[in-house]
Amino acid sequence: MPESKRYTGLIERYRAWLPVTDSTRMVSLGEGSTPLIRLENIPATLGKDVELYVKYEGLNPTGSFKDRGMTMAVTRAVAEGSRAIICASTGNTSAAAAAYAARAGITAFVLIPEGKIALGKLAQAMIHGAVVIQIRGNFDAGMALVKEVAAQAPVTIVNSINPYRLQGQKTAAFEIVDALGRAPDFHCLPVGNAGNITAHWIGYSEYAGMETAACAFCDGDCSYGGRGVTGRRPVMVGFQAAGAAPFLRGHMVDNPETVATAIRIGHPQSWDRAWKVREESGGWFDECTDEVILAAQKLLTEREGIFCEPASAISVAGALRDIQTGRIPEGSTVVCTLTGHGLKDPDTAIRQCQGGMLTVDARLEAVQSVIMDNLS
Ligand code: F0G
Repeated sequence: MPESKRYTGLIERYRAWLPVTDSTRMVSLGEGSTPLIRLENIPATLGKDVELYVKYEGLNPTGSFKDRGMTMAVTRAVAEGSRAIICASTGNTSAAAAAYAARAGITAFVLIPEGKIALGKLAQAMIHGAVVIQIRGNFDAGMALVKEVAAQAPVTIVNSINPYRLQGQKTAAFEIVDALGRAPDFHCLPVGNAGNITAHWIGYSEYAGMETAACAFCDGDCSYGGRGVTGRRPVMVGFQAAGAAPFLRGHMVDNPETVATAIRIGHPQSWDRAWKVREESGGWFDECTDEVILAAQKLLTEREGIFCEPASAISVAGALRDIQTGRIPEGSTVVCTLTGHGLKDPDTAIRQCQGGMLTVDARLEAVQSVIMDNLS
């Protein structure tokens, strides 16, 4: 009999680094182990000697990196006897919460900003049977409400303020180091609540056997550090949409606006931690306009065959600019996280391709003439 090699998710893969015991019932959909794809065509046009990779988190079960945190958070919620979970969301967290709650057989309540969530994400929350509560307000208002409600009702918050979320998400850093055989020099991410940049830093730190003040999980008594695999950590670079960039302004922003609805956040929940990440890693925050974000999304789809959602493309948009200016020097290995799949937001994709479809009569000559006109 051949040995079974069925992949059963990131908790199983990294169980020695995660808060589970042998008897914990894992709630998993086979998340994690996403591809680290080396970009080929885009770097060739840059004229710069860099190794540029994207970690394609859109290939997780619900199409975003949120599944990493959600498998861990729901596993622990169920272990602790919780019958319901709740989150505020710009869309992806609600999709993941809905799916993992379905898997666990518990109820998910999700608060989403009316009219500001991408179509695919809304479809996911609804089809998985979550109780979808649309609020006349933005993500930040929803987050405040969730905290108030959870203080009074028997529901577990599964936003990234739930410490198990970051524990699950840190595994993305482990996977990158395992794939490259070392830590990259730079890691670029989109920043909304700043949970993901913090989680990556925790993962890199644990794998390097180094401490970080950005992690509060073990209260200074870390059970995972100190057995370094790599010995070094990357410089962390966080990008925000110009209309939703509290880390650039240096203070919270009240009416965030961006086409990248996933990161339409003005009051980041991991504010202090993300500043620590920047400080400890020697990194920086920067911003990109919606125009630059959409151009990077299109570049990735057209030149590399990789379709990510707008919020994800900001990591590549920012990295390319920093490579061009030399802020990221030649000879560097750079990883950009593509946080969510492009199919999450079909409306924005189609809106970008006006004139991209030709309608002709159903006749051979008509089709043939289009082909002849478009052969390069
Ligand atoms: N990219 C995508 C596709 C996201 O959905 C999010 C966050 C981020 C980046 C930013 O990550 O908040 O950890 O800094 N989405 C949350 C949600 C807010 O509700 O789905 P962060």
